[in-house]
Amino acid sequence: MDFSIKPFDAKTGLAGFKSGCIAVGVFEDKKLSQAAQALDRKGQIAAALKSGDITGKPGSTLLLRGLDGIAAERILLVGLGADTELSDKTFVTALQATAKAFSSIGSADAAIALPLDQVKKRDTAWAIRCAILAVRDAEYRYSVTKSEKEPPARGVKKIAFLSAGADAAAKNVIAQGIALANGVDLAKELGNLPPNICTPTYLANTAKQLGKDFGFGVEVLERKQLEALKMGSFLSVTKGSDEPPKFIVIKHMGGKAKEAPIVLVGKGITFDTGGISLKPGANMDEMKYDMCGAASVLGTFRAIGEMNLKLNVIGVIPTCENMPSGRASKPGDIVTSMSGQTIEILNTDAEGRLILCDALTYVERFKPAAVVDIATLTGACVTALGHHNTGLFTRHDDDHDGLADELLTAGKVSGDTAWRMPIEDAYQEQLKSNFADMANIGGPPGGSITAACFLERYTRKYLWAHLDIAGTAWKSGAAKGATGRPVPLLTTFLLNRANGNGKKAA
Ligand code: BES
Ligand code: MN
Ligand code: ZN
Repeated sequence: MDFSIKPFDAKTGLAGFKSGCIAVGVFEDKKLSQAAQALDRKGQIAAALKSGDITGKPGSTLLLRGLDGIAAERILLVGLGADTELSDKTFVTALQATAKAFSSIGSADAAIALPLDQVKKRDTAWAIRCAILAVRDAEYRYSVTKSEKEPPARGVKKIAFLSAGADAAAKNVIAQGIALANGVDLAKELGNLPPNICTPTYLANTAKQLGKDFGFGVEVLERKQLEALKMGSFLSVTKGSDEPPKFIVIKHMGGKAKEAPIVLVGKGITFDTGGISLKPGANMDEMKYDMCGAASVLGTFRAIGEMNLKLNVIGVIPTCENMPSGRASKPGDIVTSMSGQTIEILNTDAEGRLILCDALTYVERFKPAAVVDIATLTGACVTALGHHNTGLFTRHDDDHDGLADELLTAGKVSGDTAWRMPIEDAYQEQLKSNFADMANIGGPPGGSITAACFLERYTRKYLWAHLDIAGTAWKSGAAKGATGRPVPLLTTFLLNRANGNGKKAA
């Protein structure tokens, strides 16, 4: 999709604007937006509303053709609800409906003249970024392993934003929106690829390719090096698999040389059978998505690389399979992590924390400004928060509230929301082991919290936050597929950091 911005004068210019289709807003009480009024020379739009052919409810659309005195071939009416002051949700719903309608009309070019400056507490730049994400989300198709490629897409290929307030900065906004959408697409694609293709080696090669394309420094540590680093916990997970483990380090040093980096750590289990604590068979295929944390790190790098972000960011991805075999870890096994702390593996299916803890120790060497880990860590997080919010965990002292706020704000702004969960010492007791420094599970109560508490024990040397994306990284059922989350949240967080206003409230 090609995006551009075209300024226009709302009173005179729109009727003469040549386009295959212009999308304009209408409201529930039969009121027209300013752009709709400008296009309603002969009252045909008002008549369509009056007839009841479109309700004006958010997400409703109606396509009109050949309006009198209008240069555009079609006008797409898009419902914006009752209130002329738009909420984020109403606006996004309207954009999704617009994108859907654009994908099936008989024109290759179209324009969006929705009220981009009428969203509560948001500016035009935000609205344009949002529109690009909605359009690209609707456009994404998985096709790599389908022999019958979908017929060449019909519909709109070029979209112009018609904005009275368009200026030079707007061009940059488009580039930014496209970069973010490209990052989301990469995360979706990696998540959706089958586990026999998207192996640890495949993820490592993807990181190397990104390095070539965007100038990142990329290093991939192999089993021997992981042994030398004494990553006994990570290595215990990969033991049952024939696929070699990889430990990916990817660096975007866009900031000042001495500036402490932000480190993103992504869980990269390319398939999670549970190991000897084998998962039930139903829906086990979805455990190919257990590398979506890793995918979100690579997707975010894709985005910030294209944006040429002025910030130092390091991505770290421990990646392997979790398989049962004669060589696999057994319940009761005790391993020594890179930190020196010993772990009793009471359940081999709690493997995410076992690979992450060694990565979290490894990143100490970067003297990070902050570390954010991203993981499809627990089914319990899905029970707690469902599929709308990512679980956010940070320690509960004041020092760390800033980081939590930054991430929550980035989530709200990007529509990729997180919800804060507790970490308190009281929960740590559930990880007590009679035979090691800790157990790798804390029993059913508060499962996502005890998982976060486990990680917390490896993060005491720096500022840290943990994102449990088990409920948000992919969809099940008929719409099964990766969502690309939380690339928008992470990228927005980094953008805000680069702009020096990380702590600005939503
Ligand atoms: N990858 C899973 C978490 C998961 C499960 C994500 C279902 C999304 C849907 C993780 O490795 C896991 O198996 N966690 C266990 C932990 C338990 C054994 C303490 C879980 O959530 O059941
Ligand atoms: Mn597991
Ligand atoms: Zn897992």
